[in-house]
Amino acid sequence: MSQAIGSIAILGGTGALGGGLARRWSKAGFDVIIGSRTKEKAADAVIKLKEVLGDEIKVSADDNVSAAKAADLVVLTVPYAHHANTLSAVKAELQGKILIDVTVPLRPPKVGTVQLPEAGSAAQEAQALLGEEVKVVSAFQNVAADHLNSDREIDCDVLVAGNNKEARQLVVGLVEAAGMKGFSIGPVANSAASEALTSVLIQINRQFKCHAGIKISGLPE
Ligand SMILES: NC(=O)c1ccc[n+]([C@@H]2O[C@H](COP(=O)([O-])OP(=O)(O)OC[C@H]3O[C@@H](n4cnc5c(N)ncnc54)[C@H](OP(=O)(O)O)[C@@H]3O)[C@@H](O)[C@H]2O)c1
Repeated sequence: MSQAIGSIAILGGTGALGGGLARRWSKAGFDVIIGSRTKEKAADAVIKLKEVLGDEIKVSADDNVSAAKAADLVVLTVPYAHHANTLSAVKAELQGKILIDVTVPLRPPKVGTVQLPEAGSAAQEAQALLGEEVKVVSAFQNVAADHLNSDREIDCDVLVAGNNKEARQLVVGLVEAAGMKGFSIGPVANSAASEALTSVLIQINRQFKCHAGIKISGLPE
């Protein structure tokens, strides 16, 4: 599958979740561009990733706009407070592409309480802001960065929502490449469920001092 996707840009890939995805996908053989507001910070992240995985991984650094322009598929991994600003800055570069949005619209300090935006979800806000030429697919809201940034097996499923079926299927494949099972769950409006679940998981994390995820049961053998 790594041949089918030329390159993946991860905007905010210097952070916890984006860095974890960069680690998983570059280890799986994908060509990853780590994006940042500053190219120097992205370059530092590349050096650190190569220290862990070796020089042979195909990972490079750029500023967010150049990374979004260069890649076939783009992933947004910045905190919700910077979701709209970051998307506006790369709107032109995203036209005709798939955008994976991992954003959970948390509003500190009450991150353990579901507080979805008026549009329904962060992914719907992204779709409205970017327009219909961008295939927004929401995923990874229920996976802790701590798992992605390890070599452990990840005992966690991923819900994948988006209006375009082929784009959802492609992202399900990328979830599998990152070491988890992905479930296509229908239109981008259904991202509200994935985004809301994160505050529920935060409550569980506080009780059990863990990084909880979700698993789908009842599937055929
Ligand atoms: N952490 C998790 O376990 C987890 C799990 C599921 C989903 N998520 C979602 O993943 C996203 C990223 O979470 P995270 O924990 O990885 O966040 P983070 O580490 O705090 O930040 C990610 C990156 O966002 C960029 N950023 C910070 N301030 C910014 C600003 N003012 N404007 C634009 N970019 C800015 C930074 O990149 P540069 O400084 O390099 O530009 C930073 O490295 C969030 O939407 C979160 O809801 C996180």
